[in-house]
Parts: sequence; C-alpha cells; structure tokens
Amino acid sequence: MPWYRTHARKLPWRGVSDPYRIWVSEVMLQQTRVAAVIDRYNDFLLRFPTIPALALAPEADVLAAWSGLGYYRRARMLHKAAKFIIEERGGVLPQTSIGLRTLPGIGEYTCAAIASIAFGESIAVIDGNVERVLLRLTGQPQLGTAAGRTFVRQQADILVPRRRINAHVNAPGDHNQAMMELGATICLPKAPLCLQCPVYSMCKTRGEHPTLPRPAQRSRPAAYLLSLRKRGTLTEVLLELRLSNASLMPGMYELPPLPTDSVQGREPILRLRHAITNTNYYVQVFAARGPKDRGLRRAIPAAKNDLHWVRTGRLAEFPLTGLTRKILQRLDVMAASIPAPK
Ligand code: ADE
Repeated sequence: MPWYRTHARKLPWRGVSDPYRIWVSEVMLQQTRVAAVIDRYNDFLLRFPTIPALALAPEADVLAAWSGLGYYRRARMLHKAAKFIIEERGGVLPQTSIGLRTLPGIGEYTCAAIASIAFGESIAVIDGNVERVLLRLTGQPQLGTAAGRTFVRQQADILVPRRRINAHVNAPGDHNQAMMELGATICLPKAPLCLQCPVYSMCKTRGEHPTLPRPAQRSRPAAYLLSLRKRGTLTEVLLELRLSNASLMPGMYELPPLPTDSVQGREPILRLRHAITNTNYYVQVFAARGPKDRGLRRAIPAAKNDLHWVRTGRLAEFPLTGLTRKILQRLDVMAASIPAPK
C-alpha cells in the first residue's frame, strides 16, 4: 500500500527485523496506547535485549519493567514463552503462525502479527481497528456477534496479499500494518478523517458508523497509606505485596490500602483519579507521620508478613502497580524516569 509507505508513523518497532522485538511490540500494543508503549518499549529492550536475557530474568524484574503498561498477565506470559523457547525449542522462535501459536500466551492476533511482520507469512491480522475498517468499507453495521466476526475474518483473508515480494518488500506484513494504521489514524471510531482516506472511493460507509454502546463507567473511592521511615541516610517506604492468588495483579507491590471508613475526617496529602477499564478510582493518599497517625498504621488490613519496608532508591526495580508508581512519582518519593539497567 503506497499510502502506508508515505504515511506510517515512525515508531521504534517499525523497520526492525528482529522477530523478538516485533513480538515484544505486538504484545505491548495489545490494550495499550501507542504513546504509553513508546515510553516503555526501549527501556524494556535495553533490560532484556534478547530472548535468553528475558528467559533468565526473575519474574519480578520483568513485571517491574512492565510497570505502568497494565495487564501484567501479558508480561508474565511473555516471560513464560521466552523460558519455553529456551527450554523446549532450542532457543529459536518458531517462524510460522502455527508454530508461534504453540507458545504460552500467543493467541490468534499475536501469532498472525509476528508471522506476517517478521516472517512475511500471508495471514491476516485482525484487531479492533482492522475490524472497524473492514466493516465500514463493506457497509456493515458494527456487530458484536459470531457471524460478524466470521464475516470480518473472510474479508480480511480475501484482502491479505499472498506472499512476500522480495527481501525488501514484505507485502503481507506491510498490508497488515497499513490496515491497523488506517484504523488508528484515519478510520477513527468517532469523526473519521474520510477526506484523507486512501480507500475513500471504495468505502460503503464514509463517515461515522453506529458503534456499540460503551459500558457505563463506575466510580469507586480508594485510600492508601504512605508511611516513610529513616534508616541512617536512607529512606524506606512501606509497601504491601499483593497475594499470589489475588485475581488482579498478583505478586505486585502497592502502598497499603486503607479501608475508607478508617480515614474519615482526615486530610489526604494527595488526591488523584485513576481509571482502570471501566472504573474510575477516586484515590486519596494519607501520610502516617506523627504519633497521632499510629491509628492509620493499625487500620491496614494486611497480614504483617505481606508488608515490606523498601528503600526508596530501589523502588524502580520493584514490580509496583501502575497506581503506586504514579503516586510515588507525584509525591517525589521516586524519580519519574526509569533508570538505566544495572
Ligand atoms: N497496533 C498493533 N500493532 C500494530 C502495528 N504493527 N502497526 C500499527 N498498529 C498496530
């Protein structure tokens, strides 16, 4: 697609040929905005530049490098797949969509994206953007049904080029990226930029397209404790380790949550809003400082052995939840950027 060659955004994973780098980018890009991925992608690859480097790292380091991207299961599965490649596949990433699909955590989308972009396989990639582009082009309403998905799959399979042209032109990979790019930059869910669209003349919709109603946003209050202590010249912060069987973010560290009734009448040191999928958390952070704040420490419901004093200088190495990192950065307890690898 000539349009893609001239209009593709210059992104750090474009124009690379290392399949591992393409794999990492595609996993990060699922459910995460491009801007947030750009911030993390280069740091992640500096820390884990190859599949063996990732496979040999402790899981906590991988989660720490993923901090802020959310959906940590993706990081766990990426790590697990790297170990699997080293232990079971002689250290070589499979080169076909079918081979890739056998790796832990690699589903239909990821195997098609890696196989086409890294290896030139003729297989269509379908994400939410591609689905919208295809439904609009063919004049179909946005359907969330199995029949709608089958229709999209058939259209996508018809359109994907049959093979790689030569060593420099990867027609299936470029086509798939062009479709995703079109959905991300032109064929937007609201107010699509039809006048800039390279396939305007073929489009049966030309304009906004009835989209499915979004789930209602919920609001929840949340309170956390910030407790600092001095050890000589070093400062430590109290963190709680989320239980390994917690349904969300197991094995990650956060500021100890406080029951909201324990903070009645107290003044927070920080208020912020934090959105996770369809819930808006109205977060308040309370500081335990003087003796009159001892009650706050006692209000932490966690068992004692899930609480850990962590040196502030080591926070960047810890798998912190995104919210905890945001709070600690806002309060200047930790630096805003990721340090270079050790
Ligand atoms: N979204 C996810 N992967 C992408 C890619 N390779 N190009 C454009 N958008 C994407």
